[in-house]
Amino acid sequence: MKNIIDKLRDEQNISDKELKELIEYTGNCDYLHSEADKVRRQNYGIDVYIRGLIEISNYCKNNCYYCGIRAGNTNVERYRLSREDILHCCEIGYELGFRTFVMQGGEDPFFDDDTMCKIISAIRTKYPDCAITLSLGEKSYESYKAFFDAGANRYLLRHETADDIHYNKLHPETMKLSDRKKCLYDLKKIGFQTGAGFLVGSPYQTTENIISDFRFLQELQPEMIGIGPFLSHKDTPFAHFENGSAQQCIKFLSILRLMFPKALLPSTTALGTALPDGREQGIKAGANVVMPNLSPTQYRKLYGLYDNKICTGNEAAECLLSLRESIGSIGYRVVIDRGDFAGMKQS
Ligand code: 5AD
Repeated sequence: MKNIIDKLRDEQNISDKELKELIEYTGNCDYLHSEADKVRRQNYGIDVYIRGLIEISNYCKNNCYYCGIRAGNTNVERYRLSREDILHCCEIGYELGFRTFVMQGGEDPFFDDDTMCKIISAIRTKYPDCAITLSLGEKSYESYKAFFDAGANRYLLRHETADDIHYNKLHPETMKLSDRKKCLYDLKKIGFQTGAGFLVGSPYQTTENIISDFRFLQELQPEMIGIGPFLSHKDTPFAHFENGSAQQCIKFLSILRLMFPKALLPSTTALGTALPDGREQGIKAGANVVMPNLSPTQYRKLYGLYDNKICTGNEAAECLLSLRESIGSIGYRVVIDRGDFAGMKQS
């Protein structure tokens, strides 16, 4: 195992067979995590970047089989934030020390290009020193370009799985992996710091699927990579599937750090939900970003992508102080910074 880890760290190509061995390895991962942590420190020191997550709408026109806010779930109370609500979140966030705001939502037609661009411009004008990240799903090249020109800097769009057949098992036939991939290449081309990523332990996932995920990421070269364990939601077709493994997710974070030394890698809320100190373990294994929830508190429980989403403790923006402490206690430092992709500072 050490051979493969060293090869990966030394930026040598590893074969599918070696990657498979690494993915399926169930032994002690201390060496993997510590090599990943070294690489992380070479590129980002001990800094942990925070992003204020604003969940702007839980309306969604899509029907992904794993997701709790899928259109077909009639048990969700739907909400959307107004422009004023969103700006108010930014105001609170700025005060707390956030220099990146992430507007995430279901694919909600209410937020058309014009509406979004006005919100983006307002934030850009009011917070010139902050990065604006969007996570609003699949849009046309023109829409993405308009968002970029209005002042957005980054875009998160997980590919979920890079295998066509597996993708079709997780999504209805109206959704295609090729569309998702085109969006990601469009985003890169426009100049967004682009985030892709996949679900760990999603139903029907095989080792070969995961190899495809790593290979696709190597091809795309995203600036950000978000992964989290699949967690079942009771009102979805996948209600009865087993949750993905937090340990496996932490292991993949280390592999990603070695493969993409400069990537921005969040230790996700899903990981923190699956394991009480999951987010801290993710940081120790190579992750360098956390995304506390800045949404108005009354809506947080309605943005239920999966069951038991943590939304009272350390992951909440109001609890930044205790987040700072817990990150500090494991030897890292939460910083007040935009936290751009290393080597590509842009305004
Ligand atoms: N479990 C874990 N992650 C989920 N997501 C959506 N539903 C679930 C779930 N049940 C993730 C998807 C999406 C991101 C916003 O949340 O990967 O891209």
